[in-house]
Amino acid sequence: MKILTVVGARPQFIKCAPVSRELRKEHEEVLVHTGQHYDREMSDLFFEELKIPRPDYNLGIGSGPHGRQTGAMLAGIEEVILAEEPDLVLVYGDTNSTLAGALAAAKVHVPVAHVEAGLRSFDRQMPEEINRVLTDHISDLLLCPTETAVENLQREGITAGVHLTGDVMVDALLQHAGVARASSVLADLGLDQYRLATVHRAENTDDPARLAAIMRALGDLGDVVLPCHPRTEKMLKNAGLYEEAKRRIGLIPPVGYLEMLALESGAKTILTDSGGVQKEAYVLGVPCITMRETTEWVETVEDGWNVLVGSDYDAIVRAARTFAPERERSDVFGKGEAARAIAAVIGQMED
Ligand code: UD1
Ligand code: UDP
Repeated sequence: MKILTVVGARPQFIKCAPVSRELRKEHEEVLVHTGQHYDREMSDLFFEELKIPRPDYNLGIGSGPHGRQTGAMLAGIEEVILAEEPDLVLVYGDTNSTLAGALAAAKVHVPVAHVEAGLRSFDRQMPEEINRVLTDHISDLLLCPTETAVENLQREGITAGVHLTGDVMVDALLQHAGVARASSVLADLGLDQYRLATVHRAENTDDPARLAAIMRALGDLGDVVLPCHPRTEKMLKNAGLYEEAKRRIGLIPPVGYLEMLALESGAKTILTDSGGVQKEAYVLGVPCITMRETTEWVETVEDGWNVLVGSDYDAIVRAARTFAPERERSDVFGKGEAARAIAAVIGQMED
């Protein structure tokens, strides 16, 4: 089978690594990078570290407002689909690259497979939620990481083509945890006792009051290391908050995946608004404080390892100082065999 995979943003490179490896054992894969993320430390670094094959196409779309960015991707991906005539288009997660890939394929009647189908935060203010809902409703294969995701789809009337596969981020984490342990990042940064933070969600970065409250809280904690997403750096500078944040927080450039796993594993707490980082914290057994009002990874909260605090200064500081999980974790996200399950489901399409 000829599978055309569309990726474009950092978490998608990580998700596609184990799946791509598995698919290429049996199938031909054409890899399309939309160019949504393009800085070396947001893109090429992951292809090198995770040994992802070089993209066959890089559309070089870059940054822009939602409509322009998604529209340019749609036009570019359509051309590639028409030229390559794949049997299936594979998309990951919930970014604009995900929606553009799925929509381009559906419009020219090529089946779509969605990895990370069925996730819902039930907050339509998030661009990611719109991307999730629309992508799921035009997908033919819905590859769900959790039982909750399957149930969310059922509630929306989607039952055909739904498969529970486990979460591919667990595969990636388990495959790279050993190499990550050898990373010298903690020694290089002189870290011993520290909290790790990431912030990049539009609802936090694009509202100066929220961004200021979050940064003040992280600064007051006094021991926070924050690999800074380029969006956040830009918005901190726009809001005149950058110099103060730099003085009070361990702001570092975005790090590679192996360094990130090492930083996560060594942290006493993780504070984040990232989807992937919430899950990694859970799998690694590090208490997580999520600076959002909602999460699509509800199991991490239900199991008592993640707490939602929004952008409230007091809530962030209090949770960072006191939150202590008491229950055992489960393997609700799978055991690292999701890529194989996904390849098996896709393989069945040939029969
Ligand atoms: C995107 C996804 C988000 C995901 C995140 C992962 C959408 C709507 N959002 O958000 O769901 O969690 O990726 O990291 O698809 N920039 C650079 N260099 C880069 C990339 C971005 O400087 O390589 C800056 C640009 O100023 C750009 C801004 O970051 O305008 C935002 O980038 P964009 O890709 O639009 O959204 P993200 O915030 O990265
Ligand atoms: N990540 C990374 N370096 C960083 C920050 C994050 O490698 O500096 C990894 C992180 O470990 C996780 C993924 O990127 O695997 C999460 O991506 P991100 O937070 O950008 O997006 P989201 O998951 O929120 O869509």
